[in-house]
Amino acid sequence: MLTKRFFNYIYEVFFSFLLVVHWLFKFITSLFYKFFDRIIILSFIVFVCFSSLFSLQVVEKNADPEEVLLSFLRRKVGLTGTKYGCGGGGCGACTVMVSTYDRNQRTVVHYTVIACLQPIVTLHGAAVVTVEGIGSTKTKLHPVQERIAKAHGSQCGFCTPGMVMSMYTLLRNKPQPTMEDIREALGGNLCRCTGYRPIIDGFKTFCESEVGVEQTCYSPDSPLNSYLHTLITQISQELFPMDCFLPLDPSQDLIFPPELMIMEKKVSGDALYFQGERVNLVAPFKLSHLLELKAEHPSAPLIVGNTTIGPKMLLKGVYHPLVIYAGRISELKAVTWGETGLTVGAACSLSTLQKEVEKVVVETEEEKTRGYRALLQTLRCLAGKQIRNMATVGGNILSANPKYDLSSVLAALDCTLHVISKDGMRSIPLDEKLFADFGKTVLRPEEVLLSIDIPYTKPWEFVAAYRQAQRREFAFSFLNAGMKVAIKEGTDVVESLSIYYGGVGPTLVKPKLTCQQLVSRSWGEDLLSEGCRLLKEDVDVSPSIHGGRAEFRKTLAISFFFKFYMQVVLEMRERVGKLRIMSTLWDYLSALKPFKNEVPQGQQSFQLVSEAQPSADLVGRPSMHQSAFQQATGEAKYYDDLPLVQGELFIFMVTSTRAHAKIINIDPSEALKMPGMVTFVSAGDVPGANCRLWFNNPEELFAEEEVVCVGQIIGAVVAESREQARRAAKEVHVTYHDLQPVFFTIEDAIRHESYFEPKRKVERGDVDEALKTIYMGGQEHFYMETQGVIAVPKGEHEEMDLFVATQHAAFTQELVGMALGVDSNKITCHVKRLGGGFGGKVMKIASLSAITAVAAHKTGRAVRCCLERGDDMLITSGRHPFLGKYKLRLCDKKGLNCNLYIIFNFAITLSPVLHMDNGYKIPNLRGRGVVCKTYLPSYTAFRGFGGPQGLMVMESVLHEVAVRCGLPAEKVRDINMYREEQSYTHHKQPFNPTDMVRCWDECLERANYQDRLRAVQLFNSSNRWKKRGISAVPQKFGVGFSKGFCNQGAALVNIYKDGSVLVTHGGTEMGQGINTKAIQIASRVLKVPVSSIFTKETCTGNVPNAAPSAASFGTDAVGMAVKDACEKLMRRLQPLMEKNPQNTWKQWVNEAFFQKTSLSATGFFMGPPTDVDWEKGEGQAYYYFTFGACCSEVEIDCLTGDHKVFFSLFKIPKKHITSKVEGGFVQGVGLYTIEELQFSPDGVLMTRGPSQYKVPALCDVPAELNVHLLANAENPHAIYLSKGIGEPPVFFGSTIFFAIKAAIAAARTERGLGDAFPLSSPATAEKIRMACQDEFTKMASPPTDGAMAPWCLDV
Ligand SMILES: Cc1cc2nc3c(=O)[nH]c(=O)nc-3n(C[C@H](O)[C@H](O)[C@H](O)COP(=O)(O)OP(=O)(O)OC[C@H]3O[C@@H](n4cnc5c(N)ncnc54)[C@H](O)[C@@H]3O)c2cc1C
Ligand code: FES
Ligand code: FES
Repeated sequence: MLTKRFFNYIYEVFFSFLLVVHWLFKFITSLFYKFFDRIIILSFIVFVCFSSLFSLQVVEKNADPEEVLLSFLRRKVGLTGTKYGCGGGGCGACTVMVSTYDRNQRTVVHYTVIACLQPIVTLHGAAVVTVEGIGSTKTKLHPVQERIAKAHGSQCGFCTPGMVMSMYTLLRNKPQPTMEDIREALGGNLCRCTGYRPIIDGFKTFCESEVGVEQTCYSPDSPLNSYLHTLITQISQELFPMDCFLPLDPSQDLIFPPELMIMEKKVSGDALYFQGERVNLVAPFKLSHLLELKAEHPSAPLIVGNTTIGPKMLLKGVYHPLVIYAGRISELKAVTWGETGLTVGAACSLSTLQKEVEKVVVETEEEKTRGYRALLQTLRCLAGKQIRNMATVGGNILSANPKYDLSSVLAALDCTLHVISKDGMRSIPLDEKLFADFGKTVLRPEEVLLSIDIPYTKPWEFVAAYRQAQRREFAFSFLNAGMKVAIKEGTDVVESLSIYYGGVGPTLVKPKLTCQQLVSRSWGEDLLSEGCRLLKEDVDVSPSIHGGRAEFRKTLAISFFFKFYMQVVLEMRERVGKLRIMSTLWDYLSALKPFKNEVPQGQQSFQLVSEAQPSADLVGRPSMHQSAFQQATGEAKYYDDLPLVQGELFIFMVTSTRAHAKIINIDPSEALKMPGMVTFVSAGDVPGANCRLWFNNPEELFAEEEVVCVGQIIGAVVAESREQARRAAKEVHVTYHDLQPVFFTIEDAIRHESYFEPKRKVERGDVDEALKTIYMGGQEHFYMETQGVIAVPKGEHEEMDLFVATQHAAFTQELVGMALGVDSNKITCHVKRLGGGFGGKVMKIASLSAITAVAAHKTGRAVRCCLERGDDMLITSGRHPFLGKYKLRLCDKKGLNCNLYIIFNFAITLSPVLHMDNGYKIPNLRGRGVVCKTYLPSYTAFRGFGGPQGLMVMESVLHEVAVRCGLPAEKVRDINMYREEQSYTHHKQPFNPTDMVRCWDECLERANYQDRLRAVQLFNSSNRWKKRGISAVPQKFGVGFSKGFCNQGAALVNIYKDGSVLVTHGGTEMGQGINTKAIQIASRVLKVPVSSIFTKETCTGNVPNAAPSAASFGTDAVGMAVKDACEKLMRRLQPLMEKNPQNTWKQWVNEAFFQKTSLSATGFFMGPPTDVDWEKGEGQAYYYFTFGACCSEVEIDCLTGDHKVFFSLFKIPKKHITSKVEGGFVQGVGLYTIEELQFSPDGVLMTRGPSQYKVPALCDVPAELNVHLLANAENPHAIYLSKGIGEPPVFFGSTIFFAIKAAIAAARTERGLGDAFPLSSPATAEKIRMACQDEFTKMASPPTDGAMAPWCLDV
């Protein structure tokens, strides 16, 4: 309290001083800057940040207009809780709360913003609350922080601060939110680990009444259920205690600093001027002044939300020497309701517009607000909440980007723009003529958009808005449309028709012919077919359209019109008694119902530990992540949160822009002249080996003579700051000589016979050649924390410390040593934690570390490397695309004894070939795998290591068997499953499939599969444009490395004299909770409470030569090693314990010390000798198998390709549940349904950020997601009967793929098409729509101009 008062006092004095300086400064500078009269030249800004102890007055003396809040907080204020995930507004990791005093409403408003796009100079006078500001482990947690942690909603923790701040802001505005409020608040926050359900579980405790999922009832007559019933007493659904949360007390919330309120009230009306190193920004206060500025500097962009201009400047390097900020002009923010409707200021945020419209649709009659309802539908799924808080209506329209959604709907609503300049005001209609080209409007450069009139709809006007995107929410649309028809009162005759499309060309498109020729016609079936015919002619989508998907977009354009037609029919039916349009169309009403976004709900059940287990022993109990509180408060440190090392430099990679070329020359001379530039490093600077070796496959660190893909590292610039390094990297000029061949696809690689060695083969029975194919696209890891490292030379003996985000510290150490030509004993890697890994931080990070170490070695200074999201995606790559070819022969029509043979072509050989039998005993089966060599960046490990791909091929085959035999798919799966207790895989590894069969049976039973199937069939029979599908798959998944030597674990356990225990091990903490489990294991063996045990970091100096944390084996291996070390220590302490059983742990430890007994022990686990004899194609490939089964039900919209998963259930054998299982599943949902990498015809990865590459967001999680753990499942191989679970759930995402396929098949059957059809993964909206062939897809004829290059390749 005293500290707070003291700081307030200091602040007041300081603030008064600043005001004096400020006025003095203004006076002096105004003498110089004549043309900017009425401007305050500010070289500082004032805003308030809240840290956990007190509000921190930030006075930035050299506020740079280019500086955004995120970097300012992290690097200048030292608040590193707010994270960098993408830098472009697409992930929500940097969410903070901003509070401002609203002069007009005389109130303080709180809203979330994206710190990576918010220029600091626009925050003058605002209060910023970061995750550190609301609570801390040192003082008191905020209930939001406590609940997300306790509900297991924080795994790697990198998204957690953003989640916390979104929820905190919601509660700040609404202390008792609804579930819908929570859904809306978190819609713009991505999480790659948890699957969202646990986050929602924690937060829904703030709702007045929680929404739950009805418990499934089981027939007690079923033998399975009577068995389940006996277990019921041992089963729990409570993953965290609900009764011991801190209460939410809004009276304890941080208050808006009164000094800022005074400052805002006293605002002088002058403009603010900020002068940066390269960019100046003026923020006028008066409209007249803005117009003057615009007249004098017409080319200076006007910004408000900065959500369009910001990404261009920050990510694409677009440079504007002067920027005008219009966010302070009250006329631009005015909202007025008049007789004819709403007039909204151009600088109003989309949230403001949404709020206004939401209010009016509730209060005003439906007839008048049809247009607003349509607008609302668009606004609700446009971007995330934070972006809507920043983005403005004017910015959305005038950015003139056809994938922005507002223009099409506003144009259809006949909106008018009021445009103003020094010469006066004019009103122009918002229609297609407003847009001159992509990013260009017909506004004169000096003109400013003042406001937009959005009129009420008239009684006989019908309006609709449509959009289809890669993801239902928080994604740019492929196509958006606004449609309005005016009907002559009391008739069905069209008076006027407006249709606008965004996304069929570079500008907004109005199909004029269609709109004209349908006037005066009756709204009936003839009009529908004529309309579709006209649209076919009128809407021309070029095959090379930006973003591709030309045929799909055209199909959507016609399908949207069909939807509109149906909607108007429905609405008119209520007004006109008798319409000629009736007839058969009522069957088609399913076309209209939009999918409702719901908050995911679900049940999780797990088996309780035995009552005999001591309460202090946490093994097998659901336990909070060891660092969850630190993660939720922003205290947890990731590599880039470490403070700057003195003299630290920054490195930025220079990468190849050619796919296959000889390097003629690398010229860094221009870059070296740039400010802050220190040096350029390339192959010649590597003192040791310029090479990374992985299982005898060499890869250059720096390309020396030839590049073999776009994105290959050629060199790196080293500069004093990140920004300087980024800018300098662009000035390094590389001259190439293109080489042949160049190809990118697997098919091309097969044609060129371009393969890596060795090829792999496993077979059983008698098989021949392959025919059919299944293609599966690659996947980006999209861990929330991008890859990076800090290399710190120690200054003696060539020692170097690396603080690195790696899953394989030993490999990084080894590679750095090799690159520097220094022994490994002088290189130390420290890994505190990773913000997600998923296999992506095993190998490539080692190369990046070696490059950074080379730079540190050359400069003798610490060097930090932190990849930007786009570079991370380009350089480090992800899961490989995959082509499976197979031929299938059935012996028996019933499929009881299928005799099928399969030949696969794989990009990664081992895992798919070994996993391809899944849980099925296929008598004759052959798998051949080859790794194709193309001119794309080489792929790397990703959760499942090719297993999900191999399994996918087998499931596709079984799906086809079912179709061919006319049998239910689950039956074909059932009859082909391994059943004998002693079964053998196709590579002759023995295993017992009992648990898999139990999982399968219980999964079908719990899901009420047969009832659901019947309901699906019933639904499909009465809905033409919506179809449902259901699918279930079993799974057998091998755990451990098939390279036997990787199956080892090591640990070091130290006991200190005070009784505390330090556990160090070779694994790395990346959210999987390896430290939490290591502590539990140590606690059980040593019999000391977990509170006395700690794990600090992974360090190669403590535990050498550790295996990677991967293959779902990290915890198994490390856990055994910790157990081994602890048992050794206990053996040493045992005599003392027996001698003095009454003593305490601390006394025994002390006694041991005085008896010169070592209190430090290493532990080691030598895993099984797994290996495969590839000559014979047999062997013990895995340590053990883990099993499971999953069932999902989906609904598709046959007209748009949208889908919704409304039920998923999986059953797995595991001792206790964590959100990791659901996280893996949701990653699989992304893999099989929405995540799509796109490469240009020149081999350039185009999906390089969350704006282009969509991972599942909250809206993609099944509305009901149930996870049940198999009771009494034993696993003698792994530590304390646990089961590796990191990887297997990914494959369960395929149930959604197959359910979608079943739904498409239902649509096709109804249309008289074959139900056997190819569908490659992921099952995106485009593929779903185009597979549901109908009259509209036929109209969207394929591109005719063969000369035009396609937008992207199917690699
Ligand atoms: C992650 C992300 C997701 C998004 N998702 C969607 C989406 O799903 N759908 C969608 O429609 N949009 C989406 N957007 C785009 C967003 O809606 C627009 O960027 C935003 O509306 C632009 O407003 P702004 O104030 O931020 O513009 P700024 O970046 O500040 O300015 C944009 C442009 O508008 C001009 N301008 C702005 N106001 C005026 C004015 N009053 N007079 C004259 N010129 C003016 C500026 O000169 C500039 O050229 C997304 C953006 C991001 C970053
Ligand atoms: S880092 Fe700001 S939204 Fe991703
Ligand atoms: S916990 Fe959400 S990204 Fe890791």
